[in-house]
Amino acid sequence: MNGTVFMTFPVTATSHTLADYRARGGYAGLEQALRQHTPAEVGERAKASGLQGRGGAGFMTGLKWEFVARDAPVVYLCCNIDEGEPGTFKDRWILEHSPHQLIEGMLIAAYALRVRHAFAYIRGEFDLPLRRLQAALQEAQAAGLVGDNILGTGFSCDIVVHRGAGAYVCGEESSLINSLEGKKGFPRNKPPFPAVRGLYQKPTVVNNVETLATVPWILVHGSERYAAIGVKKSPGTRLFGVSGHVERPGLFEKPTGYPLAQLIFDDAGGILGGRKLKAVIPGGSSTPILTGAEIENVTLDPESMGKAGSMVGSGAVIVIAEGTCMVRLLQVLSRFYAHESCGQCTPCREGTDWMNRILERVIAGRGTPADIATLRRIPSGIQGNTVCALGDAASMPVVSFLKKFGDEFDHYATHGRSLHDGRLAP
Ligand SMILES: Cc1cc2nc3c(=O)[nH]c(=O)nc-3n(C[C@H](O)[C@H](O)[C@H](O)COP(=O)(O)O)c2cc1C
Ligand code: SF4
Repeated sequence: MNGTVFMTFPVTATSHTLADYRARGGYAGLEQALRQHTPAEVGERAKASGLQGRGGAGFMTGLKWEFVARDAPVVYLCCNIDEGEPGTFKDRWILEHSPHQLIEGMLIAAYALRVRHAFAYIRGEFDLPLRRLQAALQEAQAAGLVGDNILGTGFSCDIVVHRGAGAYVCGEESSLINSLEGKKGFPRNKPPFPAVRGLYQKPTVVNNVETLATVPWILVHGSERYAAIGVKKSPGTRLFGVSGHVERPGLFEKPTGYPLAQLIFDDAGGILGGRKLKAVIPGGSSTPILTGAEIENVTLDPESMGKAGSMVGSGAVIVIAEGTCMVRLLQVLSRFYAHESCGQCTPCREGTDWMNRILERVIAGRGTPADIATLRRIPSGIQGNTVCALGDAASMPVVSFLKKFGDEFDHYATHGRSLHDGRLAP
């Protein structure tokens, strides 16, 4: 364990318990916030730390909190525990091994935002993370850390756990809010943004698990220390989940600005079976793919990743070895997005389905070069024309795969078989 904010303790059979969390200094940030600071001061600290949201979009956390009107009589906080982006498994780790860190972060945020009722919206498929969260909440309630008059300070906050029903789109914040209200998980048009009109039409802040679980560290160690970690423009550490064709897949906590190649070749043990690196999807399945050559000097921060033409997204690094058929890989991704589109807007509903059906046809050996030309055209009809970003998320892989591996698509459509037949990656 060599992390700074998260992976600072050896995972044991009891590391998720209140006793263990307290033994490693847990809830000191909450004590400090409630006893030494006003809500506005806590908000200032979050802002000064430079913390950016870890849910994918990277919005400044302190700024998001600031958007909530100071005189709003009712404000809600929702923790986004949907973690549906393929390749992402960082929030689950926090819940399984340090759930009190999230609870403490939620309480500090709730204090800063003057929230009386906070919600933890958890992905329906999560089992152990749910049980760990519920058990931790019970412990925290029994210890007077959640509920009425927390730590005798007069601040009260309840945390309600709400299970989703397995829809990727419910991770989108306004869809999450609709789902919490018991409605169909359709994303809402924005504006108004949730900070203005969110849950039950009240100002609402939606934050990711990793974002909120970082807040206690900032309170205890100070905004300046956090702002000094990693790159200046997007400081801190991040949890990177490395999966795919590597020798040692897993979760690694690294400062922003850490070299992507080092993460893959040193931390994750290099490419499976000693093969060559073909490509990397660097920030979850919707982020544009980079070729092996393109990652050489890329570091794990928005600026460097942006220059390379991709995004840090949710920190999910998917590694692809030489020999992998990119047509089949894209079809797997496209099937996911076609299935998960909520169907509310035509470009996304129709476009994701067309892309998937074309790719299905191509890999079945019934495609034509005209199919690939159509596939190239579809994303421009989706991007920027939809209610939520799922349409863009579905389009970006298609655009980048075709741009970088177009020859494989042309070959499959022309010859009815993969360029890689007979030498496929596992
Ligand atoms: C289709 C879609 C799915 C999303 N899924 C998640 C998710 O599972 N978890 C998450 O934290 N954010 C997800 N987001 C981003 C949220 O809308 C929102 O930006 C985020 O929860 C804000 O938290 P942050 O500011 O702490 O990053 C998703 C966005 C979209 C468009
Ligand atoms: S972009 Fe797709 S998922 Fe988002 S609202 Fe429109 S149809 Fe639904």
